[in-house]
Amino acid sequence: MKKTVLAIALAGIVGIPVASAQDKQVQVIHWWTSGGEAAALQVLKNDLQSQGVQWHDVPIAGGGGAQAMTTLRARVLAGDPPTASQMLGFDITDWAKQGVLKNLNSLAQKGDWAAKVPKALQAFDVYKGNWIAAPIDVHSTNWVWANKAVLAKAGVTSAPTTWDQYIADLEKVKKAGFIGLAVGGQSWQEATMFDGVVVSTGGPEFYKKAFIDLDQKALNSATMLKAFERMSELHKFVDPNYANRDWNVATGMVINEKAGFQMMGDWALGEFNHAKKVPNKDFLCFRTPGTQGTVTYNSDVFVFFNVKDTAAQNQMAEDIMSPKVQAGFNQLKGAAPAELGTPSAGFNACGQKAISDLAYADKHGTLFGSMSQGYAVPPAIKNAFYDVIAREFNGEITPQAAVKQLADAAKAQY
Ligand code: BGC
Repeated sequence: MKKTVLAIALAGIVGIPVASAQDKQVQVIHWWTSGGEAAALQVLKNDLQSQGVQWHDVPIAGGGGAQAMTTLRARVLAGDPPTASQMLGFDITDWAKQGVLKNLNSLAQKGDWAAKVPKALQAFDVYKGNWIAAPIDVHSTNWVWANKAVLAKAGVTSAPTTWDQYIADLEKVKKAGFIGLAVGGQSWQEATMFDGVVVSTGGPEFYKKAFIDLDQKALNSATMLKAFERMSELHKFVDPNYANRDWNVATGMVINEKAGFQMMGDWALGEFNHAKKVPNKDFLCFRTPGTQGTVTYNSDVFVFFNVKDTAAQNQMAEDIMSPKVQAGFNQLKGAAPAELGTPSAGFNACGQKAISDLAYADKHGTLFGSMSQGYAVPPAIKNAFYDVIAREFNGEITPQAAVKQLADAAKAQY
């Protein structure tokens, strides 16, 4: 973020109302444009509408939110901030630093958010002691999704639990005439796969050292080299048209029996749900082989800008944190609720697994922010990592070069 330019522009906008600021409307930037995402968001929209709050949608597709953040920045610079925006990880901290986010302390106190939201999330939702974000879900990235009928036709009878078994299963699926791995060739998606591959290759401690602590020894290690080699290994199972494919189109290939597997965050579950597919009958969900016990999480939050329609903003924040929305939204979205204690009864088998894996990892110190989703490193480093990971996956650079470039990118000043 160009901090100086932004700071000057921001100084002027605080307190400026959105055009025709009426109390009962919200204008919301988000990147939930797929079928499953839109269905989940409808839960929140309906709830607000039933209370007389009108929803104005500003959807900007693209996982990780890079495009949405570009639009948000432009709008804020132009003195036209939205009521609210979806946001992730270090982006939240960046915006909080600019002093333009609404303070949610009184709502947080009233709703006892501090007792309900996991501590790991609060590190991002609270800035300098003030609540500045309302978390709606907890996703995680170290998942694999598989079509059961495709696996059966390929002679694969259960989910692989080790890397070698996974590669052997991918081979079988390919031999049976299917696409092994459905990939959307966009750098954020390749980075999403890499989260799981790094945990699988080096274990949770290694992931933490490399991606949370940015430890040069871990980044520059034989383990990281192996992780990149595994990315090249995975590339053997993609189809020729993977470049720039949207993530939900790749999920669709698994749903429609074109591909065996997809490695994607559990928003993919939202697509299976939307297609009325049933876990363990139509599809399998399992942790990236070798990563069971670890969760690389990202929590979608909404932040609110200092515009004058505060009543509608308060309503929206309270709705997000209500048990009704936390349960209803996440059952469709494929995520775990951001509030501990939300009943898990209405979630399907994969949703329940997300909830119990999250609790396990939180308890055992193996819950880490996802690098690919902006919860491990600040945006500048994340984007540099994306670039290296994508070029290696696409065969433009060797795994050896990728290791060096990744380590160098981590040294970049932020
Ligand atoms: C968000 C998810 C979203 C996915 C794909 C991720 O960055 O956290 O909520 O479904 O992108 O759009």
